[in-house]
Amino acid sequence: MSVHNEAKQGDIAESVLMAGDPLRAKFIAENYLSDTICYNKVRNMLGYTGVYKGKRLSVQGSGMGMPSMTIYVHELINEYKAHQIMRIGTCGSFQPAVKIRDLILAQGASTDSAINSHVFGNDDFAPLASFDLLNKAFSLASSASVNVHVGNILSSDTFYTDVAPVDYYQKWIAHGILAVEMETAALYTLGAKFGVDTLSVLTVSDNLVTGEHASSEERETSFDQMMKLALELA
Ligand code: HPA
Repeated sequence: MSVHNEAKQGDIAESVLMAGDPLRAKFIAENYLSDTICYNKVRNMLGYTGVYKGKRLSVQGSGMGMPSMTIYVHELINEYKAHQIMRIGTCGSFQPAVKIRDLILAQGASTDSAINSHVFGNDDFAPLASFDLLNKAFSLASSASVNVHVGNILSSDTFYTDVAPVDYYQKWIAHGILAVEMETAALYTLGAKFGVDTLSVLTVSDNLVTGEHASSEERETSFDQMMKLALELA
């Protein structure tokens, strides 16, 4: 048991998939895993362990944003000995060539959050994915003919902006950042700190430059693609 998780030691697998929405974690457990147990209901931040093609793995809600993500990741690593954590989520594209439903493997995660400057001050730390996981994910996605992009993303503390997103995020767009989401920089930083493999696999749900949004059917297909990739990797 940890502060935010009622799982017992051994309930959680070494490999954990994290979805922002706890109900998505439930959906994955119910539709992709067998022999499933629910190990956490604290704050409704549901967590499940089950089996996929003979492999034991867990799927845990993270909530939205970096403070929530870091609480669950810190406890998964330090209290439950998770060795590999993969985020599966959605992002808003910054580049016209990165289309709705495309997959992004976040090689690095820049951030506008103060979460790392509290630690590094005026120095910069570059939060990076585990190369081994990234490499395997890229091979899998390429052989499955998925439209995949690898590069730098932005983990932002802001969802709603006072000015148009294309203006608000201008400096990031101009530096080739592929897309924005709200969790990965914190995940990668904790992975580096504690020596745990981390990767974010993201589907593009909207394009902040062209204004396109995925339909619910498109969201479902790309979610399925992303899920299968992450499950094969785990
Ligand atoms: N901002 C932040 N995170 C997101 C967005 C966005 O526009 N779309 C999907 N995830």
